[in-house]
Amino acid sequence: MELAGKIAVVTGSSSGIGLSLVRALLDAGAVVYGLSRSATPVDQPRFRWLKADVTIEQEIGQAFDIVLGQHGGRVDLLVNNAGFGFFRDIEMIETADWRRLIDTNLTAAFLCTKQVVPSMKAKHHGMIVNVGSVAGKRGIKGGTAYCASKFAINGFSESLMEELREFGIRVACINPGSVMTGFFDRAGIQPKKYLQPDDLARLIVALVELPDGMLPDELTVRPL
Ligand SMILES: NC(=O)c1ccc[n+]([C@@H]2O[C@H](COP(=O)([O-])OP(=O)(O)OC[C@H]3O[C@@H](n4cnc5c(N)ncnc54)[C@H](OP(=O)(O)O)[C@@H]3O)[C@@H](O)[C@H]2O)c1
Repeated sequence: MELAGKIAVVTGSSSGIGLSLVRALLDAGAVVYGLSRSATPVDQPRFRWLKADVTIEQEIGQAFDIVLGQHGGRVDLLVNNAGFGFFRDIEMIETADWRRLIDTNLTAAFLCTKQVVPSMKAKHHGMIVNVGSVAGKRGIKGGTAYCASKFAINGFSESLMEELREFGIRVACINPGSVMTGFFDRAGIQPKKYLQPDDLARLIVALVELPDGMLPDELTVRPL
C-alpha cells in the first residue's frame, strides 16, 4: 500500500512502539489518528490524537465515529498496538488485573477491527496490523496473562486473515521480541537485549508498503 494520503489509525499512540509508528507513518505521508488515554506528543497537521480508553467500547465507538466521519467512512490502515504486560505468579494475579489485560491486549483489537472492516470490505482494500509478541509464540514464566493475550492475538490475526483476504484486506501479526519502551517499567522484568521502537516502526511501515498483492501474515522479529 502506498501510504501517502492514506488514513491510518494507531491504538496506543502516546508512547513506545505506537508513538514511533505514528511518526513513521507521518513521514510516509499518511493522515494518522492516534488513540490513547494520555496525550500523544505529536504536533503535525496530518496527525490527530483522539483520547480513548480502548477497554471502553463506547470510547472506541466515539473515536472511530470521528475518523470515519471525517473521511467518508474510510480507514486504510488499522494498527492494533495498545497493550501492556505484567509477569507474576498466578496466585498473585487479581481477577481485575487479568480482565484489564485481556480487555486491553485482545478485546480492544476485536472492537477496533469491527469498526473498520465494513468500510474496508466495501472498498475491497485495507490492512490491519496486530502487534503480538514473541510471548505469543512461546510461554514465559510469570506470563500466564500476557502470553494468553498474545497467543490469542495471533489466533485472532490468522483467523481474520483467512476471513478477509477474499475481500482484498490484508491482516498481519507482528511478533517482536523485547523493545526499548516504557513497557518494562510496568511489566516487572528487564530483558538483556532490545529492539529500538523506531526500527520496529520502520519494519511495520515496510510491511504495509509491500505491493497490495502480497500478504505478509506473520512476522517474528528479535534483537540480534
Ligand atoms: N516493549 C516490548 O518489548 C514489546 C514486545 C512485544 C510486544 N509489545 C507490544 O507492543 C505494544 C506497545 O507496547 P510498548 O512497548 O510500546 O509499550 P508502552 O510504551 O507502554 O506503550 C503502550 C501504549 O498502549 C497504550 N494503552 C495501554 N492501555 C491502554 C488503554 N486502556 N487505552 C488506550 N491505550 C492504552 C498506552 O497509552 P496510554 O497509557 O496513554 O493509554 C501506550 O500508548 C503492546 O501491545 C505490547 O504488548 C511490546
